[in-house]
Formats: sequence, structure tokens, C-alpha cells
Amino acid sequence: MHRLLFVCLGNICRSPTAEAVFAELVRRAGRTVEFELDSAGTGDWHVGEPPDPRTQAAARALGYRMRHRARQVSRQDFERFDLVLAMDRQNHRDLLAMAEPVHHPRIQLFRSLDDAGSAPDVPDPYYGGEEGFIEVVRIAERVGARWLERLGPTA
Ligand code: 4NP
Repeated sequence: MHRLLFVCLGNICRSPTAEAVFAELVRRAGRTVEFELDSAGTGDWHVGEPPDPRTQAAARALGYRMRHRARQVSRQDFERFDLVLAMDRQNHRDLLAMAEPVHHPRIQLFRSLDDAGSAPDVPDPYYGGEEGFIEVVRIAERVGARWLERLGPTA
């Protein structure tokens, strides 16, 4: 079993998108039973809320559905998930600061598998326009496919 946690700041835009897109990639690959997926935020402002309406609209427009409620990442997550994927470098730093050093290797930057020379961060779409939310879905598709390829069959 691969246990993946996608993490951003608010858990209402980027990480629920990355989770929903990855779940669909896994489903299409016929590998649903191999994965446990969730997402969380480093911040607590939106705990209990569904994804931002603009996040849901962009995902729906491109064929993805999400049924998530925002939650804040906790120390227990570093035990439960074997891969914690940070949407940007600030999220990555915040996660490293929370986790015991022994768990640091499981905390990785989501876009570390993106094309060489691409930006390291999934841009935060919260204060921008609709196109930013579409861009998040496109990044989640491209980079999610790389993670799926990287994570081979589990015994
Ligand atoms: P996310 O986007 O981290 O991709 O969920 C944000 C959502 C909310 C806020 C910032 C970013 N906020 O400041 O409330």
C-alpha cells in the first residue's frame, strides 16, 4: 500500500486538487487498491470547509470531482503516510519543521518530479483569477502522472 498525503496552506485549493486528480489517475490505471490518499493544510483557517468554489469549478470543468473537507496536518500524519507531498517550498519547510528528523525523507516537494527547469512551487491561486485554478489542475495532472509512474506495485 502507498499512503500519500498532499499538503498546501489552506487545504481548499491546491492539495485537494492534487489529491482528486491523483485519485483519478490511479483509478484509470486500475490501481485503486494500492493507494490510500488524503490531503491537509499547514494552516487551520478553513478546517471543515469544502474546497473553494473556484477549485471545484476548475476541477469539474476538466473532469474531476472532489469530496473533501479541509483539515490541518498533524504530527500523526508523518507516521501514517509514507509520502507527504508539499505543494510549495514554504509548505515543505513548514512540514520539515513539524516532523521528527527520522520522517524528513518522506516529506517531498510535489514538483520535484516536474520537467527540469520548471518552477518548484504549485502557484497559490487563492488571490488570483480563474485561470490560476485551471493551471493548478494541469500541474496536478502532469506531475501526478510522474509520481504514479515512480510508485511501483506494492507487495
Ligand atoms: P491553498 O490556497 O493553500 O492552495 O488551499 C489557499 C487557501 C486559503 C488561503 C491561502 C491559500 N488563505 O489565506 O486563507
